[in-house]
Amino acid sequence: IDQRNHSSVTEFVLVGLSTSWDSNFSTFCFFTMFYTAILVGNFLIVLTVISEPALHTPMYFLLSNLSFIDVCLSSFATPKMIADFLLEHKSISFNDCMTQIFFFHVFAHGEMVLLVAMAYDRYEAICKPLHYVTIMSLQKCTGLVVASWVIGILHSLSQLTFTVNLPFYGPNEVDSFFCNLPLVIKLACVDTYILEIMMLSDRGLIAMTSFILLLISYTVILVTVQQHSSASTAKACATLTAHITDVTLFFGPCIFIYAWPFRNFPVDEVLSVFYTVFTPLLNPIIYTLRNKDMKSAMQKLRGQLMNTRQLSQLSLTMRAPHN
Ligand SMILES: *[C@@H]1O[C@H](CO)[C@@H](O)[C@H](O)[C@H]1NC(C)=O
Repeated sequence: IDQRNHSSVTEFVLVGLSTSWDSNFSTFCFFTMFYTAILVGNFLIVLTVISEPALHTPMYFLLSNLSFIDVCLSSFATPKMIADFLLEHKSISFNDCMTQIFFFHVFAHGEMVLLVAMAYDRYEAICKPLHYVTIMSLQKCTGLVVASWVIGILHSLSQLTFTVNLPFYGPNEVDSFFCNLPLVIKLACVDTYILEIMMLSDRGLIAMTSFILLLISYTVILVTVQQHSSASTAKACATLTAHITDVTLFFGPCIFIYAWPFRNFPVDEVLSVFYTVFTPLLNPIIYTLRNKDMKSAMQKLRGQLMNTRQLSQLSLTMRAPHN
């Protein structure tokens, strides 16, 4: 027994979602459908923006980068969770577990910074319309995208360096469907209280800073829009509504759940399902359904695809007699 207690953990057991989500075939189908919809929706946005030159502006580049992060955020753990619904023993190796922790933090915090970049872009466009083109060059837009990845990666490395070196002996049941950092460090055989506080404040710092920046920029934008009522206001409002809905959906659950007085609530489980499954699906819906430019670009893309299909069919039928 002594021997076993002192050998370090080589794999973690993922408990999965709680019993309220019965592990069975219908849950498997439900999440498979969700995941497929996420991939289709977000790749469609990326494809539309790349293929339509009229959408080669900072706003749409940032939007398609957001879709790309959403695909990443939903792909680092969800496919494994879906496959695990059909398995009895759900385990993950130590290295894979650390990899999941790394990517979750890169993508989730990258997305927060990208949301701030999108708000900044709207702020420049609406509050300084005359200088917008010079202020928001493509280089600056690329800079913002790179910054969001760099901040995400640095933040993630800072969290991971503490975690990898923790002594994991014995307990290895992670009460979630992926290696969620707060649940994993609970398993370490040290007093993790100080570590937990440090990590929480580290994470809280990025989340709070992003949230406050978003709050300030959208307040300034809304005040500006109110003061200048013109034809362009209506269009600005449609985009703004989409952005504000998205930000509320991203930060709302976080704030609501942590401020909720009844603590016997599976906080981590709800948040992780929300951020890896629901928000990635909502973004394409929010941004495309309310956006005329996006919708017409998609129709154009569909037209092009139909044309190429007809062309290839035509060439097939023309070739047929010679065969
Ligand atoms: C991200 O944004 C940059 C411009 O800053 C753009 O060149 C690139 O295509 C975008 N990436 C995606 C996946 O949309």
